[in-house]
Amino acid sequence: MINVTKTHMPKKEKYLKYIDKIYESGWITNNGPLVQELEKRLAKHLNVKNIILVSNGTVALDIAYKALGIKDEVITTPFSFVATTSSLVTSGIKPVYADINPITYNLDPDNIVSQITSKTSAIVPVHVFGNACDIEEIEKIAKKHNLKVIYDAAHAFDVRYKDRSVLEYGDISTLSFHATKLFHTIEGGALIANDDSIVEKIRYLINFGIESEDNIPELGINGKMNEFEAAMGLCMLDDMDYISMKRKAIVERYKDGLRGIVDFQEQNTNSTQNHSYFSILFKNSTTLAKIQKKLNNEDIYPRRYFYPSLDTLSYVHSPKPMTISQSISKKILCLPLYSSLEESTIDKIINIIRKDT
Ligand SMILES: Cc1ncc(COP(=O)(O)O)c(C=O)c1O
Repeated sequence: MINVTKTHMPKKEKYLKYIDKIYESGWITNNGPLVQELEKRLAKHLNVKNIILVSNGTVALDIAYKALGIKDEVITTPFSFVATTSSLVTSGIKPVYADINPITYNLDPDNIVSQITSKTSAIVPVHVFGNACDIEEIEKIAKKHNLKVIYDAAHAFDVRYKDRSVLEYGDISTLSFHATKLFHTIEGGALIANDDSIVEKIRYLINFGIESEDNIPELGINGKMNEFEAAMGLCMLDDMDYISMKRKAIVERYKDGLRGIVDFQEQNTNSTQNHSYFSILFKNSTTLAKIQKKLNNEDIYPRRYFYPSLDTLSYVHSPKPMTISQSISKKILCLPLYSSLEESTIDKIINIIRKDT
């Protein structure tokens, strides 16, 4: 069976060495030595000032809203994984959608301003499939209207924007280290913030709001990463060059085979690509359904990222339909992409798509 992704498993012997260390110390969670080591190595690898590890990417978003005091309404994208919206709703914040750009699939800054009201407290854009947003325009709007910016950067590990990590833009960026992601810690996530006072706050918010033995200044949650997850992250970091090289080659092979047959996401020319996903856009949903069925018949399972458009969820209220997002979400498919994907499988997928599109 060929799925859209396959979790990268680092060398078992290497992982077991870390597990031995954990058994020796008996320290398995609560900011253990491996979590601390991974934070240091990730800060260096990503070239960011601060990084705080948490239990998953959804918790990272929850904590970001708490740390910045986000309330009432937030402007966000309808074209994302459901957690971008559900984290807002479970935090008691109303998601207000602005439609996306039809070729980059990112939140279109031109659509943000008309959605701003006196209740808007922040903008939550997503670097969709690792493609950096229109950062300057978003920051201009945020500054003018005194809004916070939280980038859901779940897909943007290792992406650089104008010679800096993309994660350093905005007030906070969040990452997901789920097993399906480019870099993973089994389950996990992180927050990146430049402001030291916000970092300090995040540190106690992920620990039930406990700042010290006798001081609980705020309502927090349990968002901690454990040592077994950090050990996986430390092993993964060593393999990132290899993983990136393989994924880049796979994307290039797909593009060579499918150019002119389907449309590709337009990449932001100011940013590097991390090849975390490879999406293709069909002319219509009928062709997509036909191709998906053919691939499934060959035991190949691409995923409809992202479908449905989040403005259609039953638990949100969007006064007007996000027509671009709805249209893209009906025609887009993410193809299998992982380092051990064989060339013969890629060619088989290309041939099926070419034949019936
Ligand atoms: C854009 C986006 N945001 C948030 C999340 C949530 O991350 P996690 O699964 O680690 O909770 C995901 C992914 O799974 C995602 O793709």
